[in-house]
Amino acid sequence: MIQRPKEELLEEELLEEVLREEVLREEVLRVWLSEVSISGFRNLASQTLGFDPKANLIFGPNGSGKTNLLESIAVLAAGRSFRTFQDDQLLAFDAPHFQVVGRAQSGVRLQSGESSPKPRKYLARVYFSPAERKHYFLDKHEVPKRSLYAGWLPITVFLLDDRRLVAGPPAQRRAFADDAVGKVSRTYRFVLSEFRRVLAQRNALLRRRGKDDELAVWEKRLAEQAKEVSQRRNAYWKDFAPNFERMSRRFLPADEIALQYHPNVREGDDYRDILACSRQTERRMGFTCRGPHRDDFRILLNSRSLRAFGSYGQQRLVALALSLAEAETALAAGRKPVYLMDDVAAELDDANARQLFNLIGSKGQLFYASARPPAVEGRRFHVRQGKIRQV
Ligand SMILES: Nc1ncnc2c1ncn2[C@@H]1O[C@H](COP(=O)(O)OP(=O)(O)O)[C@@H](O)[C@H]1O
Ligand SMILES: [Mg+2]
Repeated sequence: MIQRPKEELLEEELLEEVLREEVLREEVLRVWLSEVSISGFRNLASQTLGFDPKANLIFGPNGSGKTNLLESIAVLAAGRSFRTFQDDQLLAFDAPHFQVVGRAQSGVRLQSGESSPKPRKYLARVYFSPAERKHYFLDKHEVPKRSLYAGWLPITVFLLDDRRLVAGPPAQRRAFADDAVGKVSRTYRFVLSEFRRVLAQRNALLRRRGKDDELAVWEKRLAEQAKEVSQRRNAYWKDFAPNFERMSRRFLPADEIALQYHPNVREGDDYRDILACSRQTERRMGFTCRGPHRDDFRILLNSRSLRAFGSYGQQRLVALALSLAEAETALAAGRKPVYLMDDVAAELDDANARQLFNLIGSKGQLFYASARPPAVEGRRFHVRQGKIRQV
């Protein structure tokens, strides 16, 4: 049985310093997962697996645990699952806690001509028990917040039902966008978590029917944070849009695809003013209804809403293009992502599937799950009733 080792909680100030340093260094690195140890997670047996830096092909019958393995890697990298927000569901039916420990390495340089940065080793761990809840550790330090932990290992997840990204509610697209920006900028993750903290303060005050001058204090801070959030998002979308255009043209060459970002507060509008004017209504509602937490983006297919008029197939291919564009943008920002793909090619026709594998090629580390392994090179893992064996 694994005990949770006692590690000191990293002081927030110190953490902030560490993060800022990290941002300044702007390393052009490839980070890849070399080893994972899993225990108490879904139906997976307690085991340690060593991975290939390029391609890992996971195969086995339905219900054997392939998606669970990808999910455990996502939990390790992002601190949460792509399938559920309820951590209790991740816990194996008879286990008191789960833990995913991972070792990753960086230091392989991309094309740039400068001298090679020192390779770095990462040791990360996510622990959960129903009583203690979830805890995140990076290099022996506990990281106090998921938002700060997430993204130490940038991942891009492709799922069969990613159609939700374009066809689902705005919250899904916001989560996608925030994850995407957060992956290329730790500062963004920090600023966003500050924005959310201040937002929660203002909301609490609204519900207490706080006075105008009390609200004004929080609104000033909220407007400052909102500006930082929006600036970083804008900068990101400038890089992201052309990547998305290229990807969608590749998968849907016959269609005209347009991406429109809809900020809830437009550039040039005075957010403090807007907040001050909404106090009366928002006291009744008990929350802040205007601000960057309400941004959304829309995709037009031949000038019509893809969400309303696109076929399932078109929606799925656009969702794939979004994920690939996100991965491209992270790549250009200097981080080679780890790709988690759950049987995506099964849904694509042969030409699109080949496109996909070629695109990913040597761009990052691939974990690919499917009933049968595709005909590409890589380390093969067979899954049977939660036991994973390299073959
Ligand atoms: N919390 C859990 N504890 C134990 N087993 C679980 C848990 N959640 C799901 N499972 C089991 O995991 C299996 C599904 O694994 P999954 O990775 O989705 O399969 P696949 O190989 O088809 O992707 C099912 O047998 C299911 O009962
Ligand atoms: Mg599956």
